[in-house]
Formats: sequence, C-alpha cells, structure tokens
Amino acid sequence: MPGPRRGTGGDADLVAAAAAARAKAYAPYSRFRVGAAVRTADGQTYTGANIENASYSLSHCAERVAIHKAVSEGHREIHTVAVVADGREPAMPCGACRQVMAEFGVRRVIVAAPKSRPRIRTLRQLLAEPFLPERLLGKR
Ligand code: THU
Repeated sequence: MPGPRRGTGGDADLVAAAAAARAKAYAPYSRFRVGAAVRTADGQTYTGANIENASYSLSHCAERVAIHKAVSEGHREIHTVAVVADGREPAMPCGACRQVMAEFGVRRVIVAAPKSRPRIRTLRQLLAEPFLPERLLGKR
C-alpha cells in the first residue's frame, strides 16, 4: 500500500487525485465508478474508490474508503473531501458518508464530474444537524 500523496495542497490537486482514484474503482455491478480524495488537518492526502460486492449491501463508497484509509493511518481530523464520479453531473455523497465525514470533522466537500465545474459545499450544508461524537463522549 503506497503512503499518503503530497501535492501543493490546493483544491485542484485534491480533485485531480479523486479523479485518478476513480480509475481503481471496483464497480462491476453498478458500473458507476467513484473516486475520492481527502485532505487531513496536517495536509496529507489519501484516496479511495468505491468497492462493490456480489452481496450488494456490502459495497463501500469511495468517500468512506478514503476517509477510513486516512483514519487507519492515524489521522483523526479531515478537513476537505473531494469526490469525482462517472457521468455528466457530480454525484452528491450519500447520507452514510456524510455521517462518517461528521465523525472526523470534515468541513468542506468538493463534488465534481469530469466535464462539469466542481461544486463546493460545507458539510454543514449537506448534513444540517449531525449526530456528533461529543454527544457520546459526555461533552454536550
Ligand atoms: N457511490 C460512491 O462511491 N459514492 C457516492 O457518493 C455515491 C455512490 C458508489 C456506491 C456504489 O458502488 C455505486 O456508487 C452505485 O451506488
């Protein structure tokens, strides 16, 4: 497994990393390839792609693969997630991925398609009233 990628740290780099990761998708059932790239609080980049399974419900979204790769390498704060999906229009992250983003402090989500302008959203826009770790850790 290669280590984290380092770029210049801009949104364009993150979108490019997500687009490149899309090529590694394992999506024989939906044929809908998605790539994601996340930037950690300390500026490292991790990528992921969707991974499907013949038992469909076991499939993993690209966003969660990328986030969990970063977390499994010790990162707990992720600032930005970029997602690039097949098709003409950007694919918005599913609700489960939004909840996982909230867990690790994601602030910005960049959603792009190969032939359309990226959309930038705050996670707060995508998930209005999240269930947060603080609720269980006794801080709220
Ligand atoms: N998918 C993602 O990877 N991310 C999204 O934001 C939406 C959906 C994947 C899951 C599945 O492999 C395929 O797209 C079709 O739902």
